[in-house]
Amino acid sequence: MEAIRIQGGVPLYGEITIGGAKNAALPLMVAGILSDEPLILTNMPELADIDTMVNLLRQHGVQIDQSVGKVSNNLSDAGATGRTMTLAGGNITNVTAPYDLVRRMRASILVLGPLLARKGEAKVSLPGGCAIGTRPVDLHLKALESLGARIALKEGYIQASAPHGLKGANIVFPKVSVGATENLLMAAALADGVTVLENAAREPEITNIAECLNAMGAQITGLGTGTLRIKGVKSLNGARVAVIPDRIETGTYAIAAAITRGRIVLKGTRYDLLESVLDAMRQIGVIIEATDDGFTVSAENGLLGIDVMTEPFPGFPTDMQAQWMALMATATGAAMITETIFENRFMHVPELTRFGVDVNVHGASAIIRGVEKLSGAPVMATDLRASSSLVLAGLAAVGETFVNRVYHLDRGYERLEEKLGACGARIERLSGA
Ligand code: EPZ
Repeated sequence: MEAIRIQGGVPLYGEITIGGAKNAALPLMVAGILSDEPLILTNMPELADIDTMVNLLRQHGVQIDQSVGKVSNNLSDAGATGRTMTLAGGNITNVTAPYDLVRRMRASILVLGPLLARKGEAKVSLPGGCAIGTRPVDLHLKALESLGARIALKEGYIQASAPHGLKGANIVFPKVSVGATENLLMAAALADGVTVLENAAREPEITNIAECLNAMGAQITGLGTGTLRIKGVKSLNGARVAVIPDRIETGTYAIAAAITRGRIVLKGTRYDLLESVLDAMRQIGVIIEATDDGFTVSAENGLLGIDVMTEPFPGFPTDMQAQWMALMATATGAAMITETIFENRFMHVPELTRFGVDVNVHGASAIIRGVEKLSGAPVMATDLRASSSLVLAGLAAVGETFVNRVYHLDRGYERLEEKLGACGARIERLSGA
């Protein structure tokens, strides 16, 4: 199995170009089910999860072409460098999302709404729990039932049908869910009548998908707010849409600059995607300066611990919680982190203590007391963001770190070693370790 070796304790200086957002690209790809005409996605990241989604959609019958390299002369995505992907859903032959693909990537549940809307039926494996919590899909199912879907759980599968088509409805989500909001947006776009989603997620990825659907001819208003109004249309056309920059990749490299007390210019990204994290970084003493297409992050010694709590957007993202914990371990004083989104997202804690991090967990909160220095250690990744927190701690730690189970990182960070290596990190991938 592959591992990453880091010789830490080196301040990082350089530039990193941020890729397209994984969590926007995945639902945007699923929107390819909704139209016979080509949906062209630019600024696509190169990640294992994207490959899994390609496999899932292809087995449903979606036609997918990919090309690599600099994309388009279109001003809206100028400077984008990722892959371009073209998807067309004119020949959906199979409405089953099998266990083997869904268990590998929970975002597979997003095909449920679009398949129901287009084909009137869908059979999607129940995703099951994962390393960060039980992660049920009840909100997706209840909301689709409100649109008229009939749903049964049988032999580990969600079996859904809409023999008379989907009908618009008023839905109030009891809890904010990114995935349920996305599933419903796509289903309601082709439903008969008006759907109103209240307490909808407001993440920038939701706006990206709503803008994509509108470019395809959908009629969605309230973008960026907690109330989305969708007037269903009979069919959707093709469109060309740029994936927004990855705010979690951005935040992870911003912390790489801060935790090593270096200076990194982050290009191809946006401050507004990550205000809560960048504001917290400023509060602890990190310097952030805007540039034309991103910002620069630099830090001297003397960062101060503060308390943060994860919340739905625009609050502090749960996907930055583990990385923030690594940073707090190098700050002066005590810092509390409260996790409110997932019930079991402190799996990185025992691994971080191997670097000498002083952390205690009490229920949904962790108290971190900054230490003079971290020391390199062999560690084991448990999920995607936990893995990146271990890489960050390894970059700051004196001595050698081995991060095992690198496949977690490959799901969400493209060319991680290359990007960090370009800033002076001594980091390499070892195969078969
Ligand atoms: C998305 O997951 C992201 N994944 C996650 O990123 C992210 O951590 C999460 O949103 C929260 O921001 C993708 O976009 C592909 P939710 P999602 O539905 O949609 C509960 C990463 O590292 N819930 O907003 O699955 C749920 O258990 C990943 O890139 C229900 O109770 O998250 C959680 O406690 C990890 N019932 C909370 O809501 C449901 O039916 C928020 O989950 C659905 C969710």
